[in-house]
Amino acid sequence: MSLIETEQDAALKKFLGQFPAYRETNRIDELRAIDYARLDKRGYVYLDYTGGGLYGQSQIDAHRDLLTEGIFGNPHSHNPTSMASANLAEQARAAVLDFFRASPDEYEVVFTGNASGALKLVGEAYPFTPESCYLVSYDNHNSVNGIREFARSKGAQVTYVPVHNPDLRLDPDLIIRGLACAKPGSDNLFAYPAQSNFSGVLHPLEWVAEAQAAGWDVLLDAAAFAPTNRLDLSVVKPDYVPLSFYKMFGYPTGTGALIARREKLAKLRRPWFAGGTITLASVQGTGWHHLAAGATGFEDGTLDYLGLPAVTIGLNHLSAIGMETIHARVAALAAWLLREMTTLRHRNGAPMVQIFGPETMDRRASTIAFYLLAPDGSVYDVYEVERLAGLENISVRTGCFCNPGDGEVAHNITQAEMAACFAEPEVPVTLQHCQSLIQDSSGVAPNTIRISLGIASNFADVYRFIEFARSFRDRER
Ligand SMILES: Cc1ncc(COP(=O)(O)O)c(C=O)c1O
Repeated sequence: MSLIETEQDAALKKFLGQFPAYRETNRIDELRAIDYARLDKRGYVYLDYTGGGLYGQSQIDAHRDLLTEGIFGNPHSHNPTSMASANLAEQARAAVLDFFRASPDEYEVVFTGNASGALKLVGEAYPFTPESCYLVSYDNHNSVNGIREFARSKGAQVTYVPVHNPDLRLDPDLIIRGLACAKPGSDNLFAYPAQSNFSGVLHPLEWVAEAQAAGWDVLLDAAAFAPTNRLDLSVVKPDYVPLSFYKMFGYPTGTGALIARREKLAKLRRPWFAGGTITLASVQGTGWHHLAAGATGFEDGTLDYLGLPAVTIGLNHLSAIGMETIHARVAALAAWLLREMTTLRHRNGAPMVQIFGPETMDRRASTIAFYLLAPDGSVYDVYEVERLAGLENISVRTGCFCNPGDGEVAHNITQAEMAACFAEPEVPVTLQHCQSLIQDSSGVAPNTIRISLGIASNFADVYRFIEFARSFRDRER
């Protein structure tokens, strides 16, 4: 046994002593050895689960077997091959409701290409008027921010609630103040993420019911939350829930969903119709079409009918492992990571890591945004860190993760600095150009590194990452 292995074993033993609940997740170790064997076979440390989850070999085998045996046609017909596809699509729909414990009397599932597709469905069809408010948190993916364009174009008031350093949380008092915008009788939409894809912050789910009671429809973005947390729609009942399945179980990559409360789906007004979404259309009257009721009216064209059975397979895969098991495992690993990262020191005593967001597991998940710092406190170039990690087969994420709100607050970027990016005569200004403008004025490049854990993470992964981070000790920039 090499010295490295001995040190890792000792660290694992200590870790197990500190996080005894981790032992109860050891069925994932068995799964990792079989279903995710390719990671260790190729010596990979995958730390970008918030970017995309990993599929198990058994999911691919089950899907391949189904496709190999079956004959599937376009589901928009009544022949046997068409009906075989339609049945699989309906099974997937039922599996989604079942997985999220959503009553079919209350919720519907609209299949989309991804979470962004689900968000666009809501944004373009939400009945915004000049009397409406769109309340949105700084901490949001750009696909949620983008809904403001629909709101603005219909004259609605768009209000942002900021996050605050150092924890990048939302202030509940400001949420309450923002909710006061709703005028009785108007349609108002409040959008926030259950989990930040930037900082890992878990925002309070209680705000869903509070906002609804104050006259709001609530869009809870579950794209980053659903892969490692139980979303129980029999307890928390948002009106619109967008998500992407590849983030939850890696495969397939082309399918997401909008899970919507039936009456809230019915209040959306689609700006067009397409094949598959109508009961009837005529070319002899331009206004003549009838949109189908429910999810059908929102699923443009032909569904990914060969991909949908892989959604059922993926959800069964997660259920067999257990969301609580996945959650407990990544929480223990992230707690260890945070403690190690925050205690890493250069020989001069200077911290080696700066975390953006909470430094403990209090109301946070296993997505961690950070900088690696040099002995003089300056920041190592994040892209160089990513490159060096890549040389060791460690996948980390860099950039702003499509979450400008958290990035701007985390890096203290002022409104005046951002304004410079939108005052340039040359359009479009690229992210890189904007970042260099900000770096010129503030001296800091507003990029971040992110690591995130998921279904197949184990202690060896986080240990290897900490060893990589430790290799920066006393390294000058
Ligand atoms: C919180 C959150 N919402 C929405 C999205 C958009 O997901 P997709 O790119 O699959 O549409 C992401 C993707 O990273 C995300 O993290």
